[in-house]
Amino acid sequence: MKVTVFGIGYVGLVQAAVLASVGHDVVCVDVDEAKVENLKKGLIPIYEPGLTPLVEETYQNGLLNFTTDAEMGVTHGDIQFIAVGTPPDEDGSADLKYVLAVAETIATYMNTPKIIVDKSTVPVGTADKVTNKISNVLLDRGETIDFNVASNPEFLKEGAAVSDCMKPDRIVVGTDNEHVKSSMRELYAPFNRNHDRMIFMDVRSAELTKYAANCMLATKISFMNEMSNLAERLGADIEAVRHGIGSDSRIGYQFIYPGCGYGGSCFPKDVQALIRTSNEIGYSPSLLTAVETVNVAQKQKLYSNLNDYFKGELAGKTIALWGLSFKPQTDDMREASSIVLMKALWEAGAKVQAYDPEAMEECQRIFGSRDDLLLVGTKESALNNADALVVCTEWSQFRAPDFNLIADQLNHKVIVDGRNLYDPQLMLEKGFSYYGIGRGESVKKQGN
Ligand code: UDX
Repeated sequence: MKVTVFGIGYVGLVQAAVLASVGHDVVCVDVDEAKVENLKKGLIPIYEPGLTPLVEETYQNGLLNFTTDAEMGVTHGDIQFIAVGTPPDEDGSADLKYVLAVAETIATYMNTPKIIVDKSTVPVGTADKVTNKISNVLLDRGETIDFNVASNPEFLKEGAAVSDCMKPDRIVVGTDNEHVKSSMRELYAPFNRNHDRMIFMDVRSAELTKYAANCMLATKISFMNEMSNLAERLGADIEAVRHGIGSDSRIGYQFIYPGCGYGGSCFPKDVQALIRTSNEIGYSPSLLTAVETVNVAQKQKLYSNLNDYFKGELAGKTIALWGLSFKPQTDDMREASSIVLMKALWEAGAKVQAYDPEAMEECQRIFGSRDDLLLVGTKESALNNADALVVCTEWSQFRAPDFNLIADQLNHKVIVDGRNLYDPQLMLEKGFSYYGIGRGESVKKQGN
């Protein structure tokens, strides 16, 4: 099938490459000329396992193309995906200007019937706005060309985007049109074997499904973070509690890991956007608001533990930081807890010596050169002359470090573990003061 994807960001590029890999003829359109030229040379703007070979292979065999020529893109695809960004505007609601600009472009150049598919995460009601925009432009042009707008939200996880797209749990399509249904079935047939993963529903429900999924996952995490704060104060161990509740199949083990707060491009943005949408229609979403509040507070946790250990005297201290990305297997630092920690440390007059397997360039890009940030090439060199170690991201190489080396290198034997990677008992035996997340009040007091 002939497909056009507007927006070569995370979602657009992965979806386009995966569709091309099963034989669809895909054109990607973006306004960023440098990005398009780089992609033609095989330079992929994001780090995502498996994506580079997929893009190279499909580009070389001619099934994946990149262009800034919007007219060519509109003419090409019978199916037009809109996968441009919806950044939060000042009040937290999703900004639709890029989505509506693409709708206008499609309407300006289309001469044959089109199926327009919203792939970006957009507020409920966006498909109606896209429909209106296209109708108005066609009216101005004096044309009556058949078109349909559907919603097909994306559920991919960063770091597993290609495999999530190749083997989706479900393919949600919002439409009430039979022709759109059969076209989407045909498009996704290669990913819909063994059992039927297609879930058809009305457009608004599909739009809300995306937000509901992300908000549910964010809720699980904030719930566990709240429990971890309780566990800490009650002298219980949240890791035992997690095991105890996860074994109930109604609860399950997934997404109940306490930590230093959720980040990334989706959860914070989508929870805030749904709160906004609710407020706009006069509904106060008390649960969603609490999810957000708990997360904002949890991101302060690493700093407050350091502050507790150093009794408020962080000025002049050097903190070793392991992990900058918002989660492992990505170089993405959007809404990462590491950013909240670093800013608080700098504010207090401390320095940061940081190492991350993938996100060093991104950190450099965000913060540039500054005296109180040293980006180093190995996790060991981050420890050089540092006063404390903080683990912010659970990269596998941080899971079993040489604790004797850490003890030798640090001026103070203190580890603040934002991901509960280490055994508190072992930490005590090694003589560390250890601050995990919700691991009982007793633990940190016995070290030193
Ligand atoms: C998420 C959704 O999982 C995906 O379906 C959606 O399409 C986009 O948003 P992503 O942002 O890539 O994907 O990351 P995810 O793996 O879900 O993690 C999000 C954040 O939650 C990370 O900061 C992670 O550290 C945190 N997290 C996750 C926890 O703190 N505890 C958990 O148990 C799970």
